[in-house]
Amino acid sequence: MSDKAWGGRFEQELDAIAARFSASVDVDGRLWPQDIEGSIAHVRMLADRNILSADDAEQIVTGLGTIRASIERGEFQWDESKEDVHMNIEAALSSAIGDAGGRLHTGRSRNDQVATDMRLWTRQACDSVVADIDALLEVLADKADGHLDFLMPGYTHLQRAQPVRLAHHLLAWAEMLDRDRGRLVDAAKRMNESPLGSAALAGTTFPIDRAATAEALGFDRPMLNSLDAVGSRDFLLEAVSALAICSVHLSRIAEELVLWSSQEFAFMQMSDAFTTGSSIMPQKKNPDMPELVRGKTGRVVGSLVNLMVMLKGLPLAYNRDLQEDKAPVFDAFDTVHDCLAVLSGAIASATFDKGRMADALQSGFLDATEVADWLALRGVPFREAHHVAGKLVQQAVQQGKTLSQLPLESYQAAHEAFDDTVFRALNMEAAIERRDVPGGPARGRVAAAIAELRGRLQTRRGA
Ligand code: ARG
Repeated sequence: MSDKAWGGRFEQELDAIAARFSASVDVDGRLWPQDIEGSIAHVRMLADRNILSADDAEQIVTGLGTIRASIERGEFQWDESKEDVHMNIEAALSSAIGDAGGRLHTGRSRNDQVATDMRLWTRQACDSVVADIDALLEVLADKADGHLDFLMPGYTHLQRAQPVRLAHHLLAWAEMLDRDRGRLVDAAKRMNESPLGSAALAGTTFPIDRAATAEALGFDRPMLNSLDAVGSRDFLLEAVSALAICSVHLSRIAEELVLWSSQEFAFMQMSDAFTTGSSIMPQKKNPDMPELVRGKTGRVVGSLVNLMVMLKGLPLAYNRDLQEDKAPVFDAFDTVHDCLAVLSGAIASATFDKGRMADALQSGFLDATEVADWLALRGVPFREAHHVAGKLVQQAVQQGKTLSQLPLESYQAAHEAFDDTVFRALNMEAAIERRDVPGGPARGRVAAAIAELRGRLQTRRGA
């Protein structure tokens, strides 16, 4: 490189504010492992194709190895005036090995280089969030297993609706998260194509071997169009969309932890390790961790919006706007990683209160559907049965009783089909057990669902 960073065309140095404005190494510096890996694959291919001498290639690979070691030891001098991660590493290489360093960039541009780095980084980041999700799924499977006989109200409109098992509720969270996992796996698969060799936008005149670099970097194939390869970032939109959806799910789980640990519900206690005190109210044990998980959803959804708007209306191929992709992508992955880790710990260490949950089943007429179903089972049209049960609830409310405390006479006055076996239907556990359908809360179904989830996790561990 000449004195002027951009070579012979330029006579003036970049203005100081412009230099600071355009430098990105503080953000993209963390791409160094991918940048070095990509460069090594590129240079080996150049040597195989006799575009570079074996000696130059050897020097470059060794030099990059030394740079990698110095970054790992924290000794590498990052230099903002060298703009980005790519130029920092290339400049360090040239100063370490001289002329051969200047040959690394043969047949390549930072445009295909950065697209390659980001695909490598994001592919690995997807894998790592997938592992975080699996860890939380393990926690949920364990908790479900340990609480199979904890009965609780299921809610609609946040009103007590019908009885379920705590395990069933925990497994609902698991299903939501498992789909998030699937979306990340899909995104990682689709992004797994190599932009390398597309150079600035139109490929290169050198007889490179794109299939070889793609293979060396673990990509499934080279991307088919050079303009698309350097100009597209929908792979980031997909990954961050999956993260945004996951964050929304985490916020819903977090919200239930906040509710359930409130004194109003008191279904659970969060451990000291995942709660905080108040600086003024000595009695407080606040669920800050789930609250923060809930709050951080804004960051992740914000990252997605950031990327969408950054890309909107961009002409092909590369534009410098694309440099702005990194901060939101890194932040979205970091945030979701932390949220998953915190929720795993918070849920694993929480304790559930069987008695409080059972008490909550006693008021709210969660057995009203049972009364309606009892009649419907005996031939009364469900709409009529529903009306009769509603009338009985109304009477119970007026008399300050539960449905099982109403006398048989009240039932028979409401509908002549009633006999005293209706009282057997008014048992919460029996009500749950009658919901013996696939996906339902009956004990056997939930136990099978736990086993199925464990099987899924086991297969993944083996894979
Ligand atoms: N730092 C740049 C980015 O992240 C690298 C590519 C620069 N390419 C260019 N033509 N200026 O997008």
